Amino acid sequence: MAESMKGLKRTHRCTEVSSKNIGETVTVMGWVQKRRNLGAMIFIDLRDRSGLLQLVFDENDCGKENFDKAYTLRSEFVIAVTGIVEKRGGAVNESLKTGELEVRAKTLRILAQSETPPFPIEDGIQTREEVRLKYRYLELRRPEIQRNLIMRSRIANLSRQFMAQEGFIEIETPMLGKSTPEGARDYLVPSRVHPGTFYALPQSPQLFKQLLMVSGYDRYFQIARCFRDEDLRADRQPDFTQMDMELSFIEEEDIMDVNERLMKYLFKEILDVDLTIPFPRMPWREAMDRFGSDKPDVRFGMELKNVSDLVKDCGFAVFTGALAAGGSVRAINVPGEGHMPRKQIDALTDMAKGMGAKGLAYICVGCGENGAHKSSFAKFMKPEEMEALVAALDGKAGDLLLFAADKDTIVFNVLGSLRLEMAKRQGLLKKDEYAFLWVTEFPQFEWSEEEERFVAMHHPFTMPMEEDIDKLETDQGAVRARAYDIVLNGNEIGGGSIRIHQDDLQEKMFRALGFTNEKAHEQFGFLLDAFKYGVPPHGGLAYGLDRLAMLMAGADSLRDVIAFPKAKDASDLMMDAPAEVEEKQLKELSIRIDIPEK
Ligand code: AMO
Ligand code: AMP
Repeated sequence: MAESMKGLKRTHRCTEVSSKNIGETVTVMGWVQKRRNLGAMIFIDLRDRSGLLQLVFDENDCGKENFDKAYTLRSEFVIAVTGIVEKRGGAVNESLKTGELEVRAKTLRILAQSETPPFPIEDGIQTREEVRLKYRYLELRRPEIQRNLIMRSRIANLSRQFMAQEGFIEIETPMLGKSTPEGARDYLVPSRVHPGTFYALPQSPQLFKQLLMVSGYDRYFQIARCFRDEDLRADRQPDFTQMDMELSFIEEEDIMDVNERLMKYLFKEILDVDLTIPFPRMPWREAMDRFGSDKPDVRFGMELKNVSDLVKDCGFAVFTGALAAGGSVRAINVPGEGHMPRKQIDALTDMAKGMGAKGLAYICVGCGENGAHKSSFAKFMKPEEMEALVAALDGKAGDLLLFAADKDTIVFNVLGSLRLEMAKRQGLLKKDEYAFLWVTEFPQFEWSEEEERFVAMHHPFTMPMEEDIDKLETDQGAVRARAYDIVLNGNEIGGGSIRIHQDDLQEKMFRALGFTNEKAHEQFGFLLDAFKYGVPPHGGLAYGLDRLAMLMAGADSLRDVIAFPKAKDASDLMMDAPAEVEEKQLKELSIRIDIPEK
């Protein structure tokens, strides 16, 4: 039976009790982690969000009634205990903050009982993720997740303070807006009042924050919920949080500067890590060429080398064929892995094939008989051609050289991913090493196979680089944008750009994206109208707060830093969402369900 806490006041959280309190009477409340009976004594580990504290019940101190009650305690019961702080009688527990203390209980109240939880409330358990997500409120009791969420709260708090000090104004923008093309798929909300019409949940506050600049707010900041109906990955949630900002009368340097100082401040305050600023900058082209990725992990080398020139006249048709088709041949050197068994090389080849490659050619430098090279394509090459490749990759005896020949997009994807995979295997991805990087000069457009047109790589409001503006309608593939991403350890933690602030250039941009004038006005009329009334030069950036928190907490998944995350199929396993709704609700919305048969 549950007792009331009437007349009781908690004096300390578990680990707020310290040796300074020895001899004092305290009242603590929390969950039973563990009960141990030692004859005349019962030991309870009490847990709250601060940690664990040992309680000891001795019938001589607490009386028979309390002692008997303590005997009934089980995991996850919620209790309130008043007692006296003492130095621990038994061995000191070094791993606990309160390991040299215990509270000798005088009174006990059982505030709530608990069924046996479906998994123990502790770190390092092996329970399946579906079960954890279903009982998320129990998973959230785990110390590790509590630490993560507390850290996330500090990141948000300190960022707010920092931004306020820098003159940013926090402004909320609506959740119910309009669906606009470009970008990911929208989550739609049907309107009851206007049957047959829909709001869209924001993919980001992008248009609103630009309008706030038009309205003169100068420096805007918001921690904003965003919604994107995309396929989920480890670093993506359908409903996520941006730390969003926009500034007027600035250029790239100003935005980078304030953000570098923000990162430096957060990392110092939260992790006691001293970041060196400014962060390095790298044009997109260079990032692709050297790392095969637009979010390179620069904690380690193993950079890509373009060997197209060296193999253009060789006898290996895989290489010359790829070049003839307009592709390239590139390679990485994985130091010391030349003796990798054939089976493992085949597994790497399968990985490459999974990414669209037709194969993966290799040279194991000096790993054959009498120091010869072992290679999957030596028989097509002259010895001096092989030596030239080994030299170009700085291959030493025992190194593994991996070659991909294909369209650039595939080559970059394959080698960029293998580079990361091999670094992971070699233990080069240290979580307490923080390599920041700005990637700049992104392409303005990327070709969409699906739509057979150029689409905006960032978004349609991004300013092209001045020297490329004249190519907007003639050579879209060559236009570079004044866009930048902030990258941490191979993760895109934020992105932004300088915006177009001239209505004629914005209209031109819409034309370049294949919008007719009418379509542009139908979709973005309010923005184009606003742009007639004096727009300051402006730009901004948005962080994925979830990603930043994940990396700062050293977590492996966004789910470890989000209180109530969605599963891989975008469902909420705890609430069972999405779910069907009542016929009456659909009627009110003038909606009929029509699920095509499979
Ligand atoms: P962008 O689309 O690059 O830019 O988003 C900014 C940052 O948000 C994070 N992010 C996500 N995090 C978790 N789950 C997702 N599904 C997800 N999608 C994006 C990433 C990303 O870098 N309005 C522009 C910003 C600007 O130009 O100012 C924008 O939304 O870390
Ligand atoms: P094959 O002549 O098909 O046996 O190929 C010889 C080697 O080249 C094998 O190691 C293949 O995996 C590799 N290979 C095939 N296609 C490609 C490609 N597009 N890029 C890199 N290596 C390839």
